[in-house]
Amino acid sequence: MVGQIWAPGHSRAEEPLAFSCWLAASKTGLWAQPQDGGGFLGHPVLLPTWGIPTYKFRLYGIFAYMNYRVPRTRKEIFETLIKGLQRLEYRGYDSAEFVVIHNGIITNYKDLRKFLESKGYEFESETDTETIAKLIKYVFDNRETKDITFSTLVERVIQQLEGAFALVFKSIHYPGEAVATRRGSPLLIGVRSKYKLSTEQIPILYRTCNIENVKNICKTRMKRLDSSTCLHAVGDKAVEFFFASDASAIIEHTNRVIFLEDDDIAAVADGKLSIHRVKRSASDDPSRAIQTLQMELQQIMKGNFSAFMQKEIFEQPESVFNTMRGRVNFETNTVLLGGLKDHLKEIRRCRRLIVIGCGTSYHAAVATRQVLEELTELPVMVELASDFLDRNTPVFRDDVCFFISQSGETADTLLALRYCKDRRALTVGVTNTVGSSISRETDCGVHINAGPEIGVASTKAYTSQFISLVMFGLMMSEDRISLQTRRQEIIRGLRSLPELIKEVLSLDEKIHDLALELYTQRSLLVMGRGYNYATCLEGALKIKEITYMHSEGILAGELKHGPLALVDKQMPVIMVIMKDPCFAKCQNALQQVTARQGRPIILCSKDDTESSKFAYKTIELPHTVDCLQGILSVIPLQLLSFHLAVLRGYDVDFPRNLAKSVTVE
Ligand code: G6P
Repeated sequence: MVGQIWAPGHSRAEEPLAFSCWLAASKTGLWAQPQDGGGFLGHPVLLPTWGIPTYKFRLYGIFAYMNYRVPRTRKEIFETLIKGLQRLEYRGYDSAEFVVIHNGIITNYKDLRKFLESKGYEFESETDTETIAKLIKYVFDNRETKDITFSTLVERVIQQLEGAFALVFKSIHYPGEAVATRRGSPLLIGVRSKYKLSTEQIPILYRTCNIENVKNICKTRMKRLDSSTCLHAVGDKAVEFFFASDASAIIEHTNRVIFLEDDDIAAVADGKLSIHRVKRSASDDPSRAIQTLQMELQQIMKGNFSAFMQKEIFEQPESVFNTMRGRVNFETNTVLLGGLKDHLKEIRRCRRLIVIGCGTSYHAAVATRQVLEELTELPVMVELASDFLDRNTPVFRDDVCFFISQSGETADTLLALRYCKDRRALTVGVTNTVGSSISRETDCGVHINAGPEIGVASTKAYTSQFISLVMFGLMMSEDRISLQTRRQEIIRGLRSLPELIKEVLSLDEKIHDLALELYTQRSLLVMGRGYNYATCLEGALKIKEITYMHSEGILAGELKHGPLALVDKQMPVIMVIMKDPCFAKCQNALQQVTARQGRPIILCSKDDTESSKFAYKTIELPHTVDCLQGILSVIPLQLLSFHLAVLRGYDVDFPRNLAKSVTVE
């Protein structure tokens, strides 16, 4: 598929945007060829048909930029676009072309394509994105009247689309305009201006007429130029707009953003941004506020680390501290989660807690289930979002459902949230992304404040989710006399965590040496139980995600029911054995493994002389309170997976076939 990328010129805002480069885009890549020969980012490749060096990028989200009266050279604009796309590389892949840039998936694209082909439209690719471009062209070609607005075209297009998408449209027919919309996939708009903005709240415009009625459509053109209904720089001054799937693409330009809701249609024309929706519903927020992001550019740079994942592993002393900051009072032994305090009474009255997530976020729920049961004295169900939905799990209005998600955008988790909302359960979000769909759609919640996580394999988000759930348990048990000693022990444990994490991180070299021994292996088992079962699941997930080795997290209690058959003298087995109530049972498992000539690599407490006697290798960890030990024991496995992946020559931050944000089912 060959398309064009268009970027705003600096001469006249009303003019067609200056032609900046050609693109060829597919699901696996995007090739850009600058026409003005300016140097820019990317890896030079040769496109045989064109015979001149071009630049290849993998596309993982969408990013668009509009300026109004801001002088920018083509090179600057191009660099802005490419940098924006590069910042999104960690998210998952996508495709782009002239008319539309798209993140997500259109599930009915085959039907639409068939229809368009029957009308004589020719396709150059197999992508769903091209269908959108052709569809808008069809709607435009068949417009009933000349003065139909760009946003009306987009509105008609999205009414035909099924699936999840974030889209930005440009057209030569609407110079100086761009229209953006979303459903299911995140989309935000950054605003930058040296001048005062007309408003902090953009009112939502609604169509007041039957949209099928062409004359009315023309009469009720969105009042884009009416200053009271749109955002612009006061006095018709210079302003820039950035459209992106994720704040990390925008933060280097501005920290002022607007998060779009599903089916919002945002149009920028002549430096004015307006937002409209087709239908009004009772629960609609009447406006979209400009929010200020707390994120710093530095937070999304690798610094001295070779990979984001490595940086994020090493950030954990600070990220866990930030999760607790202002919430845990170590003097009074109290915990206050501001986002939950108004709902605490209701939560205390509930019948059960259901904790739902995918991937690593699910593991954070598994890791804290026991301490939540202990501190809340409620039954706690832990659920994988996809399975929870597949089962049509019964949910009641006196249930409290937690949705754990780093991104706050994971499709299955979001669908599970809507499912629980429909059944009137109280919904609680635990996310790392302010403004994400999950944080907006839940009744209340906790931001884990771990800072942006770029590496596809989640690390610091896991430990911060873990701590957030423990803090919730502590808050729930504040009035329980019988639990006071336990609470104090846990709160003391939380206080010392950052220092202990630093101690664990100092084992990095030792873990690197271990990786040198293991990196040619085909398989790695990770075994444990009790509080550390989740550590095994999460460690094995890290290993398979980025090293592509087979790895399984095994509940040691299940050893004799199958996994033991895998153990022989070749099979590396990592065993997590901590000084906790499962210690004796873990010793038993250890003996089972050594009796089969297995070579256990043991993660154990520093003072554990017993386990080390049987170990092929040990990694000794500082001791903390049993229910927090999983935070310390997962870190060596994060480091191990990182070193294994590097030694095996893989791209740690962008594992094959995986995406950071899985915004489709
Ligand atoms: C993807 C990511 C994982 C993440 C999972 C859930 O699979 O690669 O790292 O754990 O999604 O994501 P969430 O944003 O909901 O925590």
